[in-house]
Amino acid sequence: SPSRGLGDVYKRQTQGISSKGGLRTVPSAGALYPLEVHIVIGKGSGLEAGIYRYIAEEHSLIQEISGDMRTKLSEAALSESMIKNAPVSLVISAVYPRITSKYGKRGLRYAHMEAGHAAQNVYLLGVELGIGTCAVGAFDDEEVKKVLKMPANEDPLYILPLGYI
Ligand SMILES: Cc1cc2nc3c(=O)[nH]c(=O)nc-3n(C[C@H](O)[C@H](O)[C@H](O)COP(=O)(O)O)c2cc1C
Repeated sequence: SPSRGLGDVYKRQTQGISSKGGLRTVPSAGALYPLEVHIVIGKGSGLEAGIYRYIAEEHSLIQEISGDMRTKLSEAALSESMIKNAPVSLVISAVYPRITSKYGKRGLRYAHMEAGHAAQNVYLLGVELGIGTCAVGAFDDEEVKKVLKMPANEDPLYILPLGYI
């Protein structure tokens, strides 16, 4: 299960379950929830370094990759130093078929809007907690997919490095 603390709160803000009916902390067209959240954790951050996937239904984490992958992720993002140096980064991705199956091409824009909602929640909570983030959209999709070992039907949208300001 996820460790307690700030990371836990952040995950709840991006995709956590907020009601008994299974609705989440972020609005989603048709409540289809196309987004996934991965947590890239570096050495010395409380959890074993690695990449984890957040399982909203269980409020738990699955470790997908072991080891400090921050440098590799940074390299996939034009060597962005924030990603290399931040103790934790969230990667928000979309599984488009979950939403395009109902809304067709329009589902793409809905997924992007939803990612904006999720990222905005991270910014807002950061103000309260004194934690900074910067939405990063400049990265090589295929390289990020490789680093995170994402399945073919999943595409990265945002990287959000987190750290004390
Ligand atoms: C969709 C999107 C993509 C962005 N991509 C990057 C990025 O790749 N690298 C970066 O340093 N900042 C990125 N930013 C952050 C903007 O540069 C930043 O929000 C802007 O300069 C205004 O600064 P502020 O957010 O501190 O007010 C992105 C912001 C958005 C909304």
